[in-house]
Amino acid sequence: MRPLIAGNWKMHGLSSQLAEIEAIAASVKLRPTHADVLVCLPATLIARASSLAAGRIAIGAQNCHSEISGAFTGDISAEMLRDAGANTVILGHSERRQHHGETDAVVAKKVEAASRAGLLAIICIGETQLQRKDGKALAVCGNQIAASLPDSMSMSVNAVGYEPLWAIGSGQEPTPDEIVEMHEHIRECLVSRLGTRGRTIRILFGGSVNPDNARAILALPEVDGALVGGASLKATDFAAIIGVVPAEP
Ligand code: PGA
Repeated sequence: MRPLIAGNWKMHGLSSQLAEIEAIAASVKLRPTHADVLVCLPATLIARASSLAAGRIAIGAQNCHSEISGAFTGDISAEMLRDAGANTVILGHSERRQHHGETDAVVAKKVEAASRAGLLAIICIGETQLQRKDGKALAVCGNQIAASLPDSMSMSVNAVGYEPLWAIGSGQEPTPDEIVEMHEHIRECLVSRLGTRGRTIRILFGGSVNPDNARAILALPEVDGALVGGASLKATDFAAIIGVVPAEP
């Protein structure tokens, strides 16, 4: 499967940081990679970034509302993101689930919205440290997939991002065995739900991926790419992670 290296800038980035997008696009131009490269930006930067990216890298968003339009002050629809130049949207990130009360049902509605607007979706799942300690990690993530991914929308799901909450921004990583166990479990869940289509959805690992650990993580079975937060903010770091994937022949 062609890997996906996706950056998630979260609530970081002013106009001055668009130079990083230009630099990432330039590095991909210089060394075409056998990976899809995507950076999910604050909505304010999407339009300018997509013209700077010039098709060399894809530009995405980090959330959307489930409705097309309406009296939802401060919200942004999938159609608006598409119109601004995004081709993908991250949905159900743990920070949205935690700080904005997004349930699996809300995430599922947003996946439908992404599909309606012609956006690809990256659905994020992941367990807390306590859930892992209690031996519930596989069940928690399995349930999140079951409830966040509407069957009929599977064609719009570009990837599932597995991001253990305790690994995000913490520098803590699961062991390789823990990553493989979870990714294999996610694959089984996808295949049992969606049949062969479930084999084509990429499973990204996220949580403190950086230039030092990316090679080992991306080499693991059923790891089809990475969702990178902090290390995607600097073009040099993000390009180093992209550089782990072989160049396009
Ligand atoms: P991190 O964030 O790479 O900074 O841990 C990943 C994410 O939350 O998507």
